[in-house]
This record gives sequence, C-alpha cells and structure tokens, in this order.
Amino acid sequence: MREIRGLAAALNSSKRFKYKSPEIVVDHLVVGAGVVGLAIAQKLCERFPLKSTYVVERHGHVGEEISSRNSEVIHSGIYYPADSLKTRLCLRGRELMYQRCQALNIPHRKTGKLVVATAEQRSYIENLHNKATKLQWPPHYTSNSPVLPTKLISGDEARSMEPDLSKDIAAALWCPETGILDSHSFMESLEKDILESEAGDLAYATRVVRVDPYISESSKPTEGDERGWVVQTVTGGDSRTDSSDAILARTIFNASGLSGPFILNALLPLEQRIPMYYARGSYASYKGPGISGISHLIYPCPDTGPNAHAFASLGTHLTLDMNGKIKFGPDIEFLSPPSGSSEDPEADVDYWARHLIPDDSKLGEMHRAVTRYLPNITVEGMQPDYVGIRPKLIPPGAGFQDFIFRKDHPCQFGGGGDVGDAPMISLLGIESPGLTSSLAIAEYVVDDLLCSSGTG
Ligand SMILES: Cc1cc2nc3c(=O)[nH]c(=O)nc-3n(C[C@H](O)[C@H](O)[C@H](O)COP(=O)(O)OP(=O)(O)OC[C@H]3O[C@@H](n4cnc5c(N)ncnc54)[C@H](O)[C@@H]3O)c2cc1C
Ligand SMILES: *[C@@H]1O[C@H](CO)[C@@H](O)[C@H](O)[C@H]1NC(C)=O
Ligand SMILES: *[C@@H]1O[C@H](CO)[C@@H](O)[C@H](O)[C@H]1NC(C)=O
Repeated sequence: MREIRGLAAALNSSKRFKYKSPEIVVDHLVVGAGVVGLAIAQKLCERFPLKSTYVVERHGHVGEEISSRNSEVIHSGIYYPADSLKTRLCLRGRELMYQRCQALNIPHRKTGKLVVATAEQRSYIENLHNKATKLQWPPHYTSNSPVLPTKLISGDEARSMEPDLSKDIAAALWCPETGILDSHSFMESLEKDILESEAGDLAYATRVVRVDPYISESSKPTEGDERGWVVQTVTGGDSRTDSSDAILARTIFNASGLSGPFILNALLPLEQRIPMYYARGSYASYKGPGISGISHLIYPCPDTGPNAHAFASLGTHLTLDMNGKIKFGPDIEFLSPPSGSSEDPEADVDYWARHLIPDDSKLGEMHRAVTRYLPNITVEGMQPDYVGIRPKLIPPGAGFQDFIFRKDHPCQFGGGGDVGDAPMISLLGIESPGLTSSLAIAEYVVDDLLCSSGTG
C-alpha cells in the first residue's frame, strides 16, 4: 500500500493578505455554512437573540461541500465506542433530528436498517447488538424511548424482509431507529431560522483568508480590555482582485469542514500543525435487477484487517433517498496530497476538489462488494453518481478517531488577556455521523463549551 501523507498547510502561508484593522465587530462569527456551521449559528441565534451571529461561507449557497455529498442517513449511533463523543452526539442528534424533521415537515423517513452477516461474520453483529443493549442516554439527555433497540434475526427472517438478499446471509441485525432525510431541506430550514432571527446573518461567496488574535489598539483603559480575533474575509470570486474586509469577532466557531485545520495551522508553529488527510468515497446509482421492492437500508459488515478498519468506513452499503432512488456506496480511498512544491500553497489545501468527479473505475470493485449480499445486482445497472470527501485526522489503519472540539484563546498567540477570553472553537474531523449529530454538536458547543468559558 502506498504511503499516505497528511497535508499540514496553513492559511495565508503566501502572506498575500496583510493585516487590516477591523471595521466592524460581531459577537459570534461562524466559518462555514455546512450543516454543522448552520446548526451552531441557529442555536446561537436562538440562545442569544440580542447578540450578533454572522456566518461566512465561501460558496454561493449552503452545504456545497461535505454536507451535500453524503449518504443522508440518520444514523442510530451503534458503531462507535460507547464513551465517545460520536456516540453521545449521534444518539442525542438523532432524537433532535427526528423532532425537527417532524415539527417542520422536512422530508424524512424512519426506514430502519439491516446489517447483514455471513456465517463467519455473525460475531460482528452479535457484538454490535450486545453493545446496543447496554448503551445509555448521554448525561442530561434522558428520554423515555429506548436508547437503541436492535434485534438479531436469522437469515430467513432477513430474507422475508428483503427477498433479494443472498442465501449466504446467515443472520442480520435489525436497527429500527435508522432513517433517511432530505439534507438540503434540513439545511434550508436552519438557514431560514438564522435569516429570520433578530441578530443573525449569512454572507455567501465570502471566504476567510486571514485570522489574527486581536491586540487592542486603543490606549484608553476603558476600551483596552476587548479581546477577540480579527478575521479578514474576501467577497467575490477572485481573491487577487477583490477587496477584503476585516471583522473583529468576539468568538469564532470554526466549522470549515475539509478546511478545518487550515485556519488554526496559520496560528500554530510548524511542528504543532494539524495534518489533514482526505478519504474519498464514491457512490453509484443503480437501476436493474436484484433489488425488487427494497425498502430498508442494507449494510454489510465492514471489512476489518490490517489495512482496513471498521471505523474508517462502514462498507459499501445500499441506501435509498427520499425519491426512492437506490445507490451504493461509499467506498474508501485515501488521497495523496500534492508534493508541496506548488507555487500556490493555498491552492494545495483544496487539492481534493480535483477528486470530486465520479468515474467508472470503481464500479467493478463496488459490484464485487455488493454482490456478496445482493447477488443479482448487475454491473451494467451501476452508474457513477457522486463523490464525497471525508475530513480525516488520522491516516488509514490508525483506528478510531473521535470528533475533536478544540478551544483556543488570543492569549496563546500573543493577543493578551486570559485563558477563557474570546474563544475560537474549532471543529475537527466532523465526518460521519456529523449530519445526524449536527443539532447535538450545536447544543454541545453552545451550552457546554461556550457557556462554560464564562464569555457567552
Ligand atoms: C462520503 C460521506 C458519507 C457520509 N454519510 C453520512 C451519513 O449518512 N450520515 C451522517 O450523519 N453523516 C454522514 N457523513 C458526514 C457528514 O456529511 C459530515 O459530518 C457533515 O456534512 C459535515 O458538515 P460540516 O458543516 O462540518 O462540513 P461542510 O459541509 O463541508 O461545511 C464546511 C463549509 O465551510 C466552508 N469553508 C471552508 N473554508 C472556508 C473559508 N476559509 N471561508 C469561508 N468558508 C469556508 C466550506 O465552503 C463549506 O461549505 C458522510 C460524510 C461523507 C464524506
Ligand atoms: C437471482 O436470480 C436467479 C436467476 O434469475 C434466481 O434463481 C435467484 O433466486 C435470484 N436470487 C435472489 C437472491 O433473488
Ligand atoms: C477554523 O477555521 C479556520 C478558517 O477556516 C482555520 O484556519 C482554522 O484552522 C480552524 N480552526 C481550527 C482549530 O482548525
């Protein structure tokens, strides 16, 4: 296997953007209008109706990166270590997600899912089941419904639910809490709440190009206490010609997805920079034999072994979308960053964008993976559909990596003040189940991380 390097690029490494004094002040600045940034901003607007919350997004619409290229599955929360943030926020996020979808008529369906196993894989689903029966609701989130009801069923019972399943399937785990949603309608509902709020706003086609800890420029002692971050943004298509703005943000929430570590790296010395790994996942749409009347999501047991880790990917599964379209995916392929000798180091950070074009080179492998549980699928019926990129913090085979919420303060970077002042909260490695968890991530970040720092 070829070696995969991480990319330790930093924002403004070309030094193209000179420091500018801030012209406006906001209480909360959220970087990124993917599902996570939107959920955080919506929560901030609701909790602090009189404080300004400003979302900046480099694209022209919500959710053009990871949030529009995923499986749109509401996960049950079964896969991750019981004491991880992924489990806690997925369980809570699932509840909040179903509640919001019901209350606002966001298209969704609790389809349930089958994790199917051959005779040799039976212990994998038994372990999942045992884990599910022991899971508790996270602290202060108790609910009357069971945490994660699952049922072990026989191969025949699974085939009575999905007659196309292979005779080799000897057992299955039924997870009734899993579902699907229209993630765009969901994001639009959050966007609408922000726009209709008293003090929330969104700026599109606006990218953050530089961040500095705020050093008070006032000599008056009454104004000398202000801490924060000076965030420089560029609005428009070409950063070479467009003029930039500087905003003083009292708090930053960094929900920039695939660019996550990029901003922070600009502030960190080289040896402390956070490497970024990108793992591509391809989807194929399917029309053809072997799927008559499928109504549940079907997941295989993930491959495990020295170079494949169940935590890296859940295996090429079958999903449905709200239009009844059937797709298979995502597979997993780690990308190698460019050598780093590029003339434009800031373009390097988006090198993954070149890998977004779906191609048919993966269909054969995907077909082999899928026919282990749905034998009558034909490769001719599979069409390359779309590609999503996972923001990984660890290289292939490195085991489990939880979500990371990191808090930095201006004083660490020479901005003065005390720890606790003007936090920058960075969200790193928000891969699956980030969509399911988004409302719980927002609750955690705003109620637990922000409010515990005493700033608000
Ligand atoms: C293949 C795949 C399948 C998945 N399947 C599921 C699933 O079925 N269920 C589930 O729960 N989760 C799933 N996930 C995970 C889920 O999609 C993500 O966790 C979630 O969408 C992450 O949202 P985000 O807001 O963090 O990132 P993004 O949606 O990428 O948002 C980040 C935003 O920040 C913007 N940005 C970046 N840099 C800047 C800058 N400098 N200035 C301004 N804006 C900037 C970007 O343009 C982008 O819009 C999947 C992920 C992948 C890759
Ligand atoms: C697959 O197709 C063959 C031939 O049409 C049929 O005999 C078999 O029952 C099918 N298998 C499944 C699992 O549907
Ligand atoms: C937050 O986002 C900024 C800008 O996208 C990025 O430079 C910074 O590294 C991020 N913060 C962290 C901790 O990664």
